[in-house]
Amino acid sequence: MKIAVIGTGYVGLVQGTCLAESGNDVVCIDKIAEKVEGLKRGKIPIYEPGLAELVHRNTRDGRLSFTTSLAEGIREAEIVFIAVGTPQGDHGGADLSGVWAVGTQVAEVLEEPKILVIKSTVPVGTNAELARRMKEIARVPFDVASNPEFLKEGAAIEDFNKPDRVVVGARREEVADKLHELYAPFLRTDRPFLVMSPESAEMTKYVANCLLATKISFINEMANLCEAYGADINEVRRGIGHDQRIGFHFLHPGVGYGGSCFPKDVRAAIHMATSKGMPARMMESVDEVNEAQKHVLFGKLKAHFKDALGSATIAVWGLAFKPRTDDIREAPALVLIDALLKEGATVRVHDPEAIPNVKAIYGDKIAYCDRPYGAIEQADALVIATEWNEFRNPDFEVMRRLLRQPVIFDGRNVYDPARMAALGFAYEGIGLPP
Ligand code: UGA
Repeated sequence: MKIAVIGTGYVGLVQGTCLAESGNDVVCIDKIAEKVEGLKRGKIPIYEPGLAELVHRNTRDGRLSFTTSLAEGIREAEIVFIAVGTPQGDHGGADLSGVWAVGTQVAEVLEEPKILVIKSTVPVGTNAELARRMKEIARVPFDVASNPEFLKEGAAIEDFNKPDRVVVGARREEVADKLHELYAPFLRTDRPFLVMSPESAEMTKYVANCLLATKISFINEMANLCEAYGADINEVRRGIGHDQRIGFHFLHPGVGYGGSCFPKDVRAAIHMATSKGMPARMMESVDEVNEAQKHVLFGKLKAHFKDALGSATIAVWGLAFKPRTDDIREAPALVLIDALLKEGATVRVHDPEAIPNVKAIYGDKIAYCDRPYGAIEQADALVIATEWNEFRNPDFEVMRRLLRQPVIFDGRNVYDPARMAALGFAYEGIGLPP
């Protein structure tokens, strides 16, 4: 099939590349010339495991190309995906200016009927509104469908190739059938292709992300309660998780969720509710609990070091909002670094991928270390903010030698508290008894 994808951000680039990999002819379009030139030369603007290899192979084999020209890029395409950013705008709602701009441009150059598919996360009603705006301009008929994205950063290619489900919002059966044809190779026999109204498809994305964010804020609140009463959240997780109605997934306590999706989508859902004059009590609490949770590590450091925190050196392992990405948007580690700097502490950091992005924010205010052990040299405590695999089984003897004091604050419960005690570390996790 001939496909165009507008927007070569995270979603668009993964979508375009994976569709090319399955044999389609894909043109990826972006208005930023520098980005397009880079992609043509194989320079990938984001870190996503496996993506660079796929882009190289499919570009080389002629199934994947890049252009800045929207008119040229969509000319041959039967299906045009819109994957432009919808950042948080004023009052917490999604800023849709990118979607409207692309819709107008497509409508202006449309010469034959095509299916436009909104991949970006957009408030309910955007599909209908885009179709309305485009109809005023276009000279030929077209369809607008919705196909929300459920990829996780760091596992995007795997998620694309093996989706739990594909959701499509379409008003005409022919449109749904065409998209089914495109996605069928990826659907394992027991995984459904779900056709619904565009409104329901748009809503599905928010409901999914809001529920996932709710699980995280819920377990974080419970973890804090465990800590206050001397219970152990790891034991409690086992106690609840075997109940099939509850399960184990997405109930890991930590330092709060970050990234480009949950924080923005929870706030957009609040905005959707309030703009209809409805309450959004659950989502407001989820957001509030999450913001507070991002301060938990600092609170623990302050309680441990008291006034001496200002003259302490703190090492931070893990800066990205989660492992296997260089993305630091809304990352809890940044909230911790800000608070430590405000306190006057010296901060030494290590992350396998995110250092360049963090450097762009903090410049020479903190020390950057290529190796995890480099960061803890002469540090008074180590804080783990993101659970990269390389932190799971370090040489604790070396760590004890390098640290000025054997103190670890673990924001992701990576280590076994009993083992840490046996090794002579003062160790504090999230939701664990003293
Ligand atoms: C999330 C959703 O999981 C995807 O399904 C969705 O497609 C995507 O948003 C999106 O809307 O584009 P992502 O933001 O990449 O994906 O990351 P997640 O793996 O979901 O993690 C989000 C945050 O929650 C991370 O900061 C992670 O550390 C935190 N988290 C996750 C926890 O604190 N505890 C958990 O149990 C799980």
